[in-house]
Amino acid sequence: MKTASVFLDKGGVGKTTSTAHFGVALSEQDLDVLLIDLAGKQGDLAKHFGVWTKLPDADERWPNIATVLSDDWSMVKEKLPDAAEDMIVATDEGPDLIPAHVGLDQVDDDLASVPVPKRYQMLESFLDEDIEPLGYDIVLVDLPGLTNNVTLNGLWATERVIAPVELGEFERQQMEMLEEDIDDLSQNFEKDIEIAIIVPNRVDTRTNLSKELLDELDEKWNGLMAPDPVPKSQDIRNSQRRGETVFAQEEVSSTAERARESYRANSETLLRKL
Ligand SMILES: Nc1ncnc2c1ncn2[C@@H]1O[C@H](COP(=O)(O)OP(=O)(O)OP(=O)(O)O)[C@@H](O)[C@H]1O
Ligand SMILES: [Mg+2]
Repeated sequence: MKTASVFLDKGGVGKTTSTAHFGVALSEQDLDVLLIDLAGKQGDLAKHFGVWTKLPDADERWPNIATVLSDDWSMVKEKLPDAAEDMIVATDEGPDLIPAHVGLDQVDDDLASVPVPKRYQMLESFLDEDIEPLGYDIVLVDLPGLTNNVTLNGLWATERVIAPVELGEFERQQMEMLEEDIDDLSQNFEKDIEIAIIVPNRVDTRTNLSKELLDELDEKWNGLMAPDPVPKSQDIRNSQRRGETVFAQEEVSSTAERARESYRANSETLLRKL
């Protein structure tokens, strides 16, 4: 089972969009894909696939992804052997997903009092013991746009990062921060965490600024850049609002088509890197 986290230490760069679109592009290649939403209680990934509103109320969803990161998990699964499977929701577009839960906030606080390294190993155990036996080929984890204990669980468990970046003026800082985070973790815990692919997102290739920054990124992150930057597309935004990805869109505009092609090409590269 291959695994990767979608992460950049910044909000709104396209982490959830990337998780969803890579997920669909990979399942088009006949892979069994599971997406896990650790990115906070609002359930963006489930909303992206139109399944959030179909879920039972939060207090009826127990156990859930927050339980997995809590001390109770080993006891829970002893009593409920199908607990992991029961959390999984099918989507109409190929990937399955485990939705976020309001309990993720509390669990992040609680993790602070768990001794290291166990504090960071909860998700890894879940993937090894509970998810791998279900036969998934690939698991992508949508992470928060900040480095907290939940994020560190994602990085620890997957060891590979898909980093969406915007080609704005802050992109250098974003990438440097990511490099620092990964170096810290790798050094402190002798973990081999690496960037698998950097995906420029919301790119307007017509502007000189984008071209310049793309060249600069290419030079610094030689070999890690996605082959095909994801264009800025209003259709991505609109389809997200409808609860689907651009792959599900029926009347396809030219930017939506380019976005699809880009995710298809990038997912082939990603697969080779994992
Ligand atoms: N290529 C794109 N073209 C146009 N809009 C985009 C593109 N990628 C993302 N967006 C839009 O930008 C917004 C932020 O994207 P997204 O939610 O994926 O970011 P995020 O990194 O997951 O944010 P957060 O840190 O809040 O979780 C969304 O409204 C999304 O539809
Ligand atoms: Mg998000």
